[in-house]
Amino acid sequence: MESSVELRMGAAPGPRPRRFWLRTFGCQMNVHDSEKVESLLLHSGYTAARSPDEADLLIVNTCSIREKAEHRLYSDLGLLRSWKEGGPGRVLGVGGCVAQQEGDALLLRFPQVDFVFGTHNLRLVPALALAAGEGQRVARTEERRSLDRFELPIAPPELSRKNPGRAYLTVMEGCDMFCSFCIVPVTRGREISRPAEAILREAESLAQRGVRELILLGQTVNAYGRHALRRGNAEATGTLAFAELIRRLAKLPGISRIRYTSPHPLFFDDDLVAAHGDLAPLCPHVHLPVQSGSDAVLRAMRRRYGREQYLRLVTRLRGARPDLALTTDLIVGFPGETDRDFEDTLALVREVGFVDSYSFKYSPRPGTAAASLEASQAVPEPVKQARLEALQSQQKSLTLAAHRARVGTRTEILLEGESRRGGQLSGRDPYHRIVNLSARAPGSFPPGSLVPVEVVEATPHSLLAEPA
Ligand code: SAH
Ligand code: SF4
Ligand code: F3S
Repeated sequence: MESSVELRMGAAPGPRPRRFWLRTFGCQMNVHDSEKVESLLLHSGYTAARSPDEADLLIVNTCSIREKAEHRLYSDLGLLRSWKEGGPGRVLGVGGCVAQQEGDALLLRFPQVDFVFGTHNLRLVPALALAAGEGQRVARTEERRSLDRFELPIAPPELSRKNPGRAYLTVMEGCDMFCSFCIVPVTRGREISRPAEAILREAESLAQRGVRELILLGQTVNAYGRHALRRGNAEATGTLAFAELIRRLAKLPGISRIRYTSPHPLFFDDDLVAAHGDLAPLCPHVHLPVQSGSDAVLRAMRRRYGREQYLRLVTRLRGARPDLALTTDLIVGFPGETDRDFEDTLALVREVGFVDSYSFKYSPRPGTAAASLEASQAVPEPVKQARLEALQSQQKSLTLAAHRARVGTRTEILLEGESRRGGQLSGRDPYHRIVNLSARAPGSFPPGSLVPVEVVEATPHSLLAEPA
């Protein structure tokens, strides 16, 4: 566990190229981090394995947003002990948010783990894997404030982007909001924004490779550049206001769609709202996490907005873009949440008419402000469960109604490939709805193409369409 070990960069040694397998949990940021690790490994001479069995290097990219996610890793690591024993020289690495939190402790607790890398140390993965092959067990989880985390070598063409027409683009990382329930400020560190020039350059290179849709990523993506603007050093840091960044990206040839995720309701200035009305590529969908509809709970969550302020934002956004689709995240069973608070959440969801939502039972996270409330004010598990079910069942009806209202309308989908159940081509429309092409549609559209369609049927999870 020498964390001061000299780490050499370079190609993996050995008689044949070593093969890697990545397993990813958590949010889009983690999915994109795995893409970055994959790119670094390809640049270092590794090739992608077709299965874990074939791999010499296996990396688990972890999430710790809820207890369940974290436990998932521990049971996984149990299973991976036999993977590790299944071949000589196999190397097991753990990265992501649990790694950032636990660091060395993972090496101590799990002898099968060879190296640990935190969310700021993706760049070190090839060197850590190399050192592990030589018998060193290292954990590197120090927070790096430097911008070099953003500027990785351009992804080689072999990178297995699931959907060639769409790409994630990191604009900022970290979170300074410290909502009382959330571990992310611990696992992702302080907010840091990437210079606009570098973002634009990466976007251009993605567009040249056929990417049509950019998904701008950040833990609180619309906080992009805010500290520099407030301090008056935007120029020195090379950042812009978030809306201005989007305006510049929208001008790039080839970019037909821009999304961003996840924004915080506090950081919608007038220009960002206006951009939804006047920028054609900016998609008419915003994922706008609200967490609760009760002022008391929002206050205890330290969300820094109230119910009315959130609803006003929705009105402003819809004022700019009347057909805007909204989705959200919700937590039920936050410590002290009463039946009345929960009713307020149900009512807010109906009032906004979210086309979809992701709801979670509150899960205490170590070291967060709310975790200490759990001892005295915990909502009993059966109550949490009942509230979750009530919320999800209400959402199901709202989603189905929104989908039905789309039947007979025209839209455009960006094709991703085969639908989940197979047999149909599938993609997303500008509202971020999954749209499957009916079996009658000719199968001549490659993934990444934009296809005009007419919606012919609605289901609770997706829309069915025919080429128009
Ligand atoms: N940065 C995003 C949230 C990222 S975490 C934002 O501010 O909206 C994704 C979602 O996980 C959150 O929106 C929240 O609904 C949920 N979540 C976070 N911490 C949680 C916890 N301790 N228990 C249950 N759900 C949680
Ligand atoms: Fe977590 Fe709040 Fe930051 Fe979102 S804004 S990542 S919920 S602390
Ligand atoms: Fe999970 Fe870390 Fe994302 S905790 S949700 S992987 S930022």
